[in-house]
Amino acid sequence: HAAEAHRTDLMTITRFVLNEQSKHPEARGDFTILLSNIVLGCKFVCSAVSKAGLAKLIGLAGEINVQGEEQKKLDVLSNEVFIKALISSGRTSILVSEENEQATFVEPSKRGRYCVVFDPLDGSSNIDCGVSIGTIFGIYLRKDDSEGTLNDVLQPGKNMVAAGYCMYGSSCTLVLSTGTGVNGFTLDPSLGEFILTHPDIKVPKKGKIYSVNEGNAKNWDEPTKKYVERCKFPEDGSSPKSLRYIGSMVADVHRTLLYGGIFMYPADKKSPNGKLRTLYEVFPMSFLMEQAGGQAFTGTGRALDIVPTTIHQRSPIFLGSFEEVEEIKSLYAAHE
Ligand code: AHG
Ligand code: MN
Ligand code: MN
Repeated sequence: HAAEAHRTDLMTITRFVLNEQSKHPEARGDFTILLSNIVLGCKFVCSAVSKAGLAKLIGLAGEINVQGEEQKKLDVLSNEVFIKALISSGRTSILVSEENEQATFVEPSKRGRYCVVFDPLDGSSNIDCGVSIGTIFGIYLRKDDSEGTLNDVLQPGKNMVAAGYCMYGSSCTLVLSTGTGVNGFTLDPSLGEFILTHPDIKVPKKGKIYSVNEGNAKNWDEPTKKYVERCKFPEDGSSPKSLRYIGSMVADVHRTLLYGGIFMYPADKKSPNGKLRTLYEVFPMSFLMEQAGGQAFTGTGRALDIVPTTIHQRSPIFLGSFEEVEEIKSLYAAHE
């Protein structure tokens, strides 16, 4: 069929979000505008990442300034692009970025109803060897009675209205949830559009892959040690799990979402709160995992229940297939 060889009905991410919006009569289109600015940032980073090696060698058109200053690092550059795109959307009040010590308060004339927390370039240590990296974001709606204060972003993850990530890998994939399931879109570079390629993603109930930096094992707590031991030496005689660890959260979580299994960055003796940041790493990924039918646990409770007190705080995290997280939960429960 010609229709199969050439798809003519393209579900772009904008069309998809507009469709969803029409289910909410009170919606004013603000979210669509906000999202299109996030998408713009992702396209910019995607293009910059794919040229990163080239840029180092010969410099990219327009990116060498007259003073001959050293080129901006990709994570700093990405951050600037997102901050500017989000402010100019006119739909945001407060922005929290991994790259900025302080939150950004949008000036009153440009303020809108949303607050965005994000990691513009996660996994940046992987840039120079061409391994997949990504952008992670979470979106809160400002409280009705609020002018926009830090409290609007110091809300538990379950209050997010949307979350997602964009992975800059062999293809550029944007995974999004607005609280009604999870959908994946792939950038068609010739169109410059994200097209729906992974409708209604569900994480497999069980999985055969575990993903963790095992180099930290010496400092792990007992439940983590026991869980990983069971992955390698299953007590029920089943075959051991496979280990996959890229060291880019976006890539490790993306694989976990599609293939099932568990991703963890546990607490250890040296980092009692683990490494990953609650607001813009743990929350968005936990939101997506729950929306896909999986779970996200901190070692003490549901990740999305954390009430953050500071914008850059960290939390241990275990997320992935329902059954896998269930097992780690029971190990922690038995340990108490
Ligand atoms: P970032 O590059 O934004 O600082 O974060 C990297 C994170 C995350 O992507 C990954 O899961 C984790 O660091 C890997 O940490 P280890 O090297 O300690 O395993
Ligand atoms: Mn990060
Ligand atoms: Mn980062």
